[in-house]
Amino acid sequence: MRRAPLIRAAITATGRYMPRRAVPNSHFYGELGLDTNEEWIRSRTGVVERRIADVAGGETTASMSAWAAQQCLQRAGVAPEDVDGIVVATITPDQGVTATACIVQELIGATNAWAFDLVAACSGYVFGLSQATAMVRAGMARRVLVIGAETMSSILDYTDRDTCIIFGDGAGCSLVEAVDEGGLEVLDFAMHAAGAGATLLNVPAGGSVRPASHDTVDERLHFVKQDGRAVFKHAVTRISQVITELLDKNGLTADDVALVVPHQANIRIIEACGRRLKVDMGRIAVSVDRWANTTAATIPTTLDLALEEGRIKPGDLVVFAAFGAGFTWGSALLRA
Ligand code: UT7
Repeated sequence: MRRAPLIRAAITATGRYMPRRAVPNSHFYGELGLDTNEEWIRSRTGVVERRIADVAGGETTASMSAWAAQQCLQRAGVAPEDVDGIVVATITPDQGVTATACIVQELIGATNAWAFDLVAACSGYVFGLSQATAMVRAGMARRVLVIGAETMSSILDYTDRDTCIIFGDGAGCSLVEAVDEGGLEVLDFAMHAAGAGATLLNVPAGGSVRPASHDTVDERLHFVKQDGRAVFKHAVTRISQVITELLDKNGLTADDVALVVPHQANIRIIEACGRRLKVDMGRIAVSVDRWANTTAATIPTTLDLALEEGRIKPGDLVVFAAFGAGFTWGSALLRA
């Protein structure tokens, strides 16, 4: 049985920022003239619309993160100077060098906080939450902001109907604090990686092996490439496994879980996991219809929505679960 940590780490507040512009599916078969349609997108992905950032108008990964963080801190009643650390999970930083977390630190005035970015794609928020929890429990920090934020539209090929329809932009934030009571206590994690999956989902250029050049731009290598069908199968298997693993090692079953907050890649992945785990859709939080797949931002934004809708009651066990590029996958167990 898990030993209770000396210092209790809990999510005491959440916040989110979604870009103002909502883009319906008709944008892709209408304005962009792609060979797709409403029925295919809705039935194969569950997406009805997604938010797309107006980067030129000031909506960037860092600013969206900062707005989500400000809302979160305001709700917690915590001043920015009292934040010890900021983790931003993202694969779409504002720029290649200088962590987005440092820009966020400046934007919100968290003058006493360290800050770094974490790259684990769709699992980034869960992995970041594990780091924050470990540091709080170890007494290395008392308050850490864990942010999942993406401007996926900056790496989407809008001529590729396989990828561009499923992603969206946005940011979600959670404050992890050392508190004796209250909040969503973070209990445990299960996390994995399998680099063999790197070929199935990636952005081929822009790193040190293939830096930006005329050729890489001409060959459209700065955009997300994925073998959707293969990734889909891995996602269903791994998410189901990692939730089962986490519940098993805590002596729990799926019946004990009040709410699962899964990564929002595709409604069919979410439903398939629900069937495998025997968790009905009434106990699974869904936002893929309104926000699509915002990579590292799906879980913190969907959690924020679930809390807003009053779906988490005192005593409830909550599970987060994600799968993404790397491959990476992981789950977190929390109690309200
Ligand atoms: O979040 C990070 C991890 N990413 C994921 O978890 C994404 C996982 N994958 C998926 O969500 C799905 O695989 C997609 C939504 C990307 C694709 O759905 P699918 O059901 O796996 O479709 P498919 O790739 O097997 O393609 C089925 C058919 C193909 O046509 P044929 O070969 O059967 O004639 C595709 O060309 O659907 C076609 N197709 C489309 N048709 C209309 C693919 N994209 C589209 C489209 N509109 N947008």
